[in-house]
Amino acid sequence: MKGIVFTEFLELVEDKFGLEMVDNIISSSNLESGGVYTAVGTYNFSEMLQLLQQLSTNTGISIDDLLLVYAEHFFSVLKDSYPGLLETYKDPIEMISSIENHIHVEVRKIYPDAELPTFEVVEKSENSLIVIYRSSRAMHHFGLGLMNKTFEHFNSTANIVLEKLKEDGTEVKFLINKN
Ligand code: HEM
Repeated sequence: MKGIVFTEFLELVEDKFGLEMVDNIISSSNLESGGVYTAVGTYNFSEMLQLLQQLSTNTGISIDDLLLVYAEHFFSVLKDSYPGLLETYKDPIEMISSIENHIHVEVRKIYPDAELPTFEVVEKSENSLIVIYRSSRAMHHFGLGLMNKTFEHFNSTANIVLEKLKEDGTEVKFLINKN
């Protein structure tokens, strides 16, 4: 997992819960990196999982809810870092259905070692989209947060329903209906 995902995560934790919480979740995790991350480095996904678990235990907020809020923050990071990628799109349905064949393809060119999910488009119309998310990392709520913000970016909203195809969350169907 890319360092930028860790650095932005810890910054958000500091913003919302304070520096003490950052120190607390780092020291109660068993991190190969020692909790020192640089934006361009690459780190083990298990470190993110431990940090999320510790934060969840300390705050009583579920990991899914933490990932949702984190993704909403991460969207503005992506927007500022890759403005050109977003400018290609005029419509949220178009953008979300292009993650697999365009957006994450470009991401992989920048970071060849990025750990990305796949999004298979199952059904698409002007105002609705069904995609299947697949990833061993089961970060479907991170996807949900990014999708929410994608609609907001285009001054729109949507009703998004998640249907787990596998209990462990590694395969999830997203049913998206633009309002
Ligand atoms: C992960 C880039 C849009 C879904 C990532 C990562 C990057 C990235 C850098 C981290 C990879 C790693 O740590 O190795 C981008 C850029 C986007 C974009 C530049 C737009 C300009 C989206 C959107 C969605 C999405 C709109 C939602 C549908 C995800 C998910 C992950 C991810 C769910 C977590 C990894 C996983 O589940 O396996 N993306 N992304 N991305 N992205 Fe995107």
